[in-house]
Amino acid sequence: MRMYDLIIKTREGLELSREEIHFIIQGYTKGSIPDYQMAAWCMAVYFQGLSAKATAELTMAMVDSGETLDWPEFGAELVDKHSTGGVGDKTTLVLAPWVAAAGVKVAKMSGRGLGHTGGTLDKLSAIPGFSSELNREEFIQAVQRTGLSVVGQTGNLVPADKKLYALRDVTATVDSIPLIASSIMSKKIAAGARRIVLDVKVGDGAFMQELSAARLLAETMVDIGAQTNRHTVALVTNMDQPLGYAVGNALEVQEAIATLRGKGPADLTELSLALGAEMLVQAGKTQTPDEGRRLLQEVMLEGLPIRKLRDMIEVQGGNPDVITNPELLPVAPVSKDVKARHSGHVVAVQARKIGLIAMELGAGRQRLKDAIDLSAGLEVLVKVGDRVEQGQTIARVHGPSQAVVDSAHRKVQSSIRVDATPVEPMPLILARVSK
Ligand code: URA
Repeated sequence: MRMYDLIIKTREGLELSREEIHFIIQGYTKGSIPDYQMAAWCMAVYFQGLSAKATAELTMAMVDSGETLDWPEFGAELVDKHSTGGVGDKTTLVLAPWVAAAGVKVAKMSGRGLGHTGGTLDKLSAIPGFSSELNREEFIQAVQRTGLSVVGQTGNLVPADKKLYALRDVTATVDSIPLIASSIMSKKIAAGARRIVLDVKVGDGAFMQELSAARLLAETMVDIGAQTNRHTVALVTNMDQPLGYAVGNALEVQEAIATLRGKGPADLTELSLALGAEMLVQAGKTQTPDEGRRLLQEVMLEGLPIRKLRDMIEVQGGNPDVITNPELLPVAPVSKDVKARHSGHVVAVQARKIGLIAMELGAGRQRLKDAIDLSAGLEVLVKVGDRVEQGQTIARVHGPSQAVVDSAHRKVQSSIRVDATPVEPMPLILARVSK
């Protein structure tokens, strides 16, 4: 078999066999296929696409490139959730304790943030003492004791993806649906997920800008799930404006705590309910998402989700008092309110810009090895469709110094557009994709 022939075959849109796909991924991971040939192949995939069967084969070839994890200890109740990334997306912090309170086991591996999107591990590290570095035994014990645990990724999972993603990043081949879908699903499958709920974000602050592309990505991932025997369901959700109000690590933990007390922003609560209901169905706890919603609402009224969060924090070495005393979380030395310059209706809160401002304030990182400021970030206190009056506080900026905060303040002002004519806000949940 020669890589040269497989590039031509892909370029001509011909179907690759399982053996051919494994040859490509194994060869690239081991170094017998050079970057320039792999780059040409990615570009051929970019233009020609891959069939559903070849995309699933590619996913499994990537899974086979490294270690895999399995969790027989947890049985069928274990459900994983994955978001393609957004601004202010603290859903895992809310969802994990909420569904655990309803009897689903959540053993979640999360990542750090990069660029304008945040990562769950960074948010959790704002809790004093909290450790996301548990070994396998500690992780299993934590889930068995409390029903949930969130940790960083262990082991050498999907080395093919690490190498391939870096190559795609510099060869303009990241935004190819079969390549994205196989990249995401290979990591979920290698980490041992058997039942998966996906949150595919679309809009200004998301990876996918167009609904049609986000829907196709969701369909492709659900299809990979079906072909590889992993129950998968996806919601396509709006990311034109930040989720909730808070963007930044400690600020987002505080908002997640409020939401678990039933006092969170409406959009974050709604998204958590919708994804949580899907997780309950996947775990066999309820028959339908509607029943799932009802069960989640019941456990919320009993105050169980916040107790689950407390248990998780305690078991992972964190200070559980942050639940009742949010002032124990890191607090930025300088804060400044952003006021509406004139009265009108909010017509846009540009999520990507807000994410980038949070990063500049220190809440996010440009490169994975950069340090972050856990206290920095912003609160955007308005949503598209809201009426605002001149002088009303529409956002609050938190940062390390007056100069940094002043610079962010100006940018926030121009990211929130207020107009005389109101606009209809987009629905939060745009599509549901399942087999
Ligand atoms: N996220 C991933 O994990 N992989 C991609 O290819 C794109 C986004």
